[in-house]
Amino acid sequence: MFKKDFTWGVASASYQIEGAAVEDGKGPSVWDMLCRKPGASWRGQVGDVACDHYHRYREDVAWMKRLGVRASRFSVSWPRVLPEGVGQVNDKGLDFYDRLVDEHLAAGVEPWVTLFHWDYPLALYHRGGWLNRESADWFAEYARVLAGRLGDRVTHWMTLNEPQCFIILGHQDGNHAPGDKLRFDEVVRAIHHTLLAHGRGVQAIRSHAKSKPTVGIAMVAVVRMPQTETPADITAARTAMFAPNPNAFLFNAWWFDALLKGEYPAEGITLFGPAAPDVQPGDMATIAQPLDFLGANIYHGQHVAATPQGPRLVDFPAGYPKTAYDNWPITPSCLYWGPRFLHERYGLPIVITENGRCVSDIVSLDGRVHDPQRIDYLRRHLLELRRAAADGVDVSGYFHWSFTDNFEWNLGDSIRMGLVFTDYPTQRRIPKDSAAWYGQVIRTNGTAL
Ligand code: FCB
Repeated sequence: MFKKDFTWGVASASYQIEGAAVEDGKGPSVWDMLCRKPGASWRGQVGDVACDHYHRYREDVAWMKRLGVRASRFSVSWPRVLPEGVGQVNDKGLDFYDRLVDEHLAAGVEPWVTLFHWDYPLALYHRGGWLNRESADWFAEYARVLAGRLGDRVTHWMTLNEPQCFIILGHQDGNHAPGDKLRFDEVVRAIHHTLLAHGRGVQAIRSHAKSKPTVGIAMVAVVRMPQTETPADITAARTAMFAPNPNAFLFNAWWFDALLKGEYPAEGITLFGPAAPDVQPGDMATIAQPLDFLGANIYHGQHVAATPQGPRLVDFPAGYPKTAYDNWPITPSCLYWGPRFLHERYGLPIVITENGRCVSDIVSLDGRVHDPQRIDYLRRHLLELRRAAADGVDVSGYFHWSFTDNFEWNLGDSIRMGLVFTDYPTQRRIPKDSAAWYGQVIRTNGTAL
């Protein structure tokens, strides 16, 4: 019931896998800076080596091919390509992505490129970063460079990964890079600039890529599911999913309506009051460039019940299933209701650009990594995604987070989310049971579920 040309992939991000932090002319990113601050990351770890993918990309792509993966979503490190963020291009950095793309194509693995997955050039941060309206011009310049060089072979592009996270976690909470705790109006202004950057990035890709590009963005979708599948609870969940809320990453509609309808929701403007952004003429049209797909990163959701007072978030019961990452609950129907509500409201094909779970994986005495919990999680979630497809939701791809275990931002290597185990001291890769299982799902286009 998945489409014939459904894209089955795996996902990663440059800072989390590449390493080679100071090699071949790469400039520093805000993550290189943050991880060096005492107390900022787990055990003071830094991503200088991570999975050493910069040197081992051939082996990693070979594993993808062997395991039957059809597509790989990876990001480009902006300061590797433009050490100062703009201006002088670092040829050696760009050459790396050129080779990486060729390696994917030779292996029959389709490259899906994310322009920016959080490793912002430190030089641009020092020029005001996302608070500076020029940040949209800087991003457009970067997008032109990448599309110009890789756009003859890369056809699938995403501008930003989870702007909600790098703005809210990085600029409001301060736990992620650059580690700032800005005022609320500043946060809202930074959001406006990231959205403008996205729009300018889409334009740059479309005008500079030689092969016709398919362009999207990878967003966090904060998912709300009905507690029971009654019309009343379904309506309540749909309302709650897009309702204004200054928390929950500043609420879905604030971002998605701007991106896909060209307007900030009126309730949000009222809620934010004087903190609402300074929207200049033409901004909303720039932001709302037509997209080919909407990427949604979905790991979990929360149930909602209809009550006479309106939708109510349902607390998780005692002992509910959860993963070891931040107590993320295991709620498989998020992969049904998330895509469904997004597709209903915005009409675009939905690609699940990230989904997966952390497991405290170990290498067993038999030398293998048995991860039945991950297989169970994936099976439950993919069955729900298949149900969405069967019910007419236009779902066109799924990317597992992640391919290899990798450097989980401020949590360092304490979290394992890969289909392939990374033995960090030796950098040996050991495919987990889930990798073979996922390969079988791919080969059968989901009927093996
Ligand atoms: C997402 C990020 C990704 C990784 C996973 C676990 O929020 O996009 O880089 O951290 O969560």
